[in-house]
Amino acid sequence: IDRYAVFGSPIKHSKSPQIHRLFAEQTGQSLSYEAQEVKAESFAEAVRAFFAAGGKGLNCTVPLKELAYRFASHKTGRAERSKATNTLALQADGTILGDNTDGCGLVGDLLNNHRITLAGKRILILGAGGASRGILGPILEEAPAALVIANRTVEKAERLAEEFECLGSIAGCGFEALAGRQFDLILNATSASLSGELPPLPEHLLADKGNCYDLAYGNEPTAFVRWGIAQGAQKSLDGLGMLVEQAAEAFFIWRGVRPQTHPVIDLLDRERK
Ligand code: ATR
Repeated sequence: IDRYAVFGSPIKHSKSPQIHRLFAEQTGQSLSYEAQEVKAESFAEAVRAFFAAGGKGLNCTVPLKELAYRFASHKTGRAERSKATNTLALQADGTILGDNTDGCGLVGDLLNNHRITLAGKRILILGAGGASRGILGPILEEAPAALVIANRTVEKAERLAEEFECLGSIAGCGFEALAGRQFDLILNATSASLSGELPPLPEHLLADKGNCYDLAYGNEPTAFVRWGIAQGAQKSLDGLGMLVEQAAEAFFIWRGVRPQTHPVIDLLDRERK
């Protein structure tokens, strides 16, 4: 039986094993998928041991995505741009391919599950860390009218914007520079939401009929999802759909079969209510 796993720390509450087992059941694929607690210090050793024991593919999550990127013998273009890898796949020639399915998972969730289009829209991303970097390429590919990255540390937003400006209209700034501006879609990619915090955001930042999306998710609505609702967002969503979509893309890379995501998203959503 083909073995897959997710490595990360902490990993106990990962939903990835459940998601991939549901995908396998749905598509009639025979495979196993386990979660393994792996810290940064032991990453290389754990990955080598996994593939040496016949493992076929790995997901890597916090705090291992940059390490996985460096480990991979070759990478997809979208992984190169994001400088992070959430999916490692054993190739026929024995090499390890590194990909990053996070951004395409987000865009897939927005477009296919929520009918939120990005083309021609004014988009704001909060945060300039790894989560933000992972989604910039796939968002710019959709050709938004404008993409702004706002971050507490302004220089990080500016540097990130410079790195991606060859792909489209993008700018970096601090939160205070957002006063008086409006966006059709606001994405939260800060790690603040997990601890219930919010960046300082001005009033009227969200345009009429605008949408909000938190890359994080939890059993309760996140602080940012609640902020979106209070701002009158048409939809204020969390990252559960993105989680399932990035997993589906990884499953496709490994198995060549595209699972249906709706039934899995619905099930996970029901379980937290
Ligand atoms: P990740 O990989 O999840 O993006 P990261 O690379 O550590 O993690 O980045 C965390 C992001 O959340 C950063 O943009 C960080 O802002 P700084 O670059 O200024 O540190 C942002 N962040 C974390 N806590 C925050 C808070 N309380 N308010 C605003 N932004 C916060």
